[in-house]
Amino acid sequence: MTDTLTPVLTDDWDAERSWTLETYESRGGYGALTKALTMPPADIITAVKDSGLRGRGGAGFPTGMKWSFIPQDNPKPKYLVVNADESEPGTCKDIPLMMATPHTLVEGVIISSFAIRANHAFIYIRGEVLHVIRRVQAAVAEAYAAGHLGKNIHGSGYDLDVVVHAGAGAYICGEETALLEGLEGRRGQPRLRPPFPAVAGLYASPTVINNVESIASVPSIIANGASWFASMGTEKSKGFGIFSLSGHVTTPGQYEAPLGITLRELIDLAGGIRHGHELKFWTPGGSSTPLLTAEHLDVPLDFEGVAGVGSMLGTRAIQLFDETTCVVRAVLRWTEFYKHESCGKCTPCREGTWWLVQTLASLERGQGTEADLDLLLDQCDNILGRSFCALGDGATSPISSSIGYFRDEYLAHLTHGGCPFDATASTAWA
Ligand code: NAI
Ligand code: SF4
Repeated sequence: MTDTLTPVLTDDWDAERSWTLETYESRGGYGALTKALTMPPADIITAVKDSGLRGRGGAGFPTGMKWSFIPQDNPKPKYLVVNADESEPGTCKDIPLMMATPHTLVEGVIISSFAIRANHAFIYIRGEVLHVIRRVQAAVAEAYAAGHLGKNIHGSGYDLDVVVHAGAGAYICGEETALLEGLEGRRGQPRLRPPFPAVAGLYASPTVINNVESIASVPSIIANGASWFASMGTEKSKGFGIFSLSGHVTTPGQYEAPLGITLRELIDLAGGIRHGHELKFWTPGGSSTPLLTAEHLDVPLDFEGVAGVGSMLGTRAIQLFDETTCVVRAVLRWTEFYKHESCGKCTPCREGTWWLVQTLASLERGQGTEADLDLLLDQCDNILGRSFCALGDGATSPISSSIGYFRDEYLAHLTHGGCPFDATASTAWA
């Protein structure tokens, strides 16, 4: 554990015109690519494996292992797809990264594609963020003009084309197989896994899909070495990551730190909970990860530490709420989001999220009885593990965890005949 920030990906965010090729190269950018192109591709995969880098999109799957699944004896083309469809509530790390230093991503794309022997790569960006799409497109155009992309990169004989693709704006398209459907021009709905994309992905060809932050971490690993990366973080969660703090904290924003840092340390770095208030509950990795409370301030924020207290590290989207927040209303708001974003493919999620909203909204208005709380948990049980993809499971996380920690607050809505926070804007009801 440490209380020190480790700015690597965020180090240049304040540099003047940080997004340009000129600034990026003046600070050593594309040096890692030059080095990588002299290495056998298999050695790059080994370096990423040895670094211990795990997927930064939320699931934490080992990146180098995923790359090694690409069958090199398969005559089909191989593809790299960057998942830049960041949409998890509270998650806001990939978009600032692409705005501030898009060339970090582009350099990572080239090295990663070279490692898996792909000649085509796609960067799939959510459609709502036009300014980000334009910024990444401009960086790709600059990279082509400088000879970092296209034919015979740096005289190495290696060719790579990169396409920046705008999604149509659906949370489900961040699910990797729905993303592939969208990329192929169909409605964004998940495919059955297995086969995993590494075996049959884009156009049924072997495909690596990685998150923006994972790919952007690759140049620093190649430049500084696997052991440099592995020297940070914890035993099983190596390296650093961007923690996004939002909500009732004095200085919200992006804090790049070694995995294993605690929320207490991050809150200190962010100037504390807003003046005069106390932390009530928080999400470790977006609203799809079970809520935690002030009793979890010292949990190491790594994959194992957060799992140990019944939640998930996810995207490190830490949303903080103080004691003035009604947890029932916050959970209702998230559940409305999942209902809206359910793609409709499977019944437990399509119908279940609708029922969750009905039951929660009624409780929030102070209607119903205590039995409705058990009904709500029963509805969660009928979605969790029975949905086609992780969206349905994620929708139940804030509900079941909040009832676990704040059952009394749900009941207070019933005895009060409505939200107790409306009348007092405080916790006076308790
Ligand atoms: P997953 O654990 O099923 O898969 C993770 C990755 O490993 C995938 O790329 C998958 O293809 C690969 N993989 C897993 N087992 C494999 C095998 N046996 N062979 C080959 N490849 C294999 O997780 P999933 O469903 O892809 O993602 C869920 C996570 O996404 C959640 O933990 C959540 O935190 C995160 N998430 C992120 C969002 C964002 O905006 N960044 C939005 C919503 C969820
Ligand atoms: Fe679609 Fe929800 Fe089923 Fe996923 S769980 S396939 S989002 S309906």
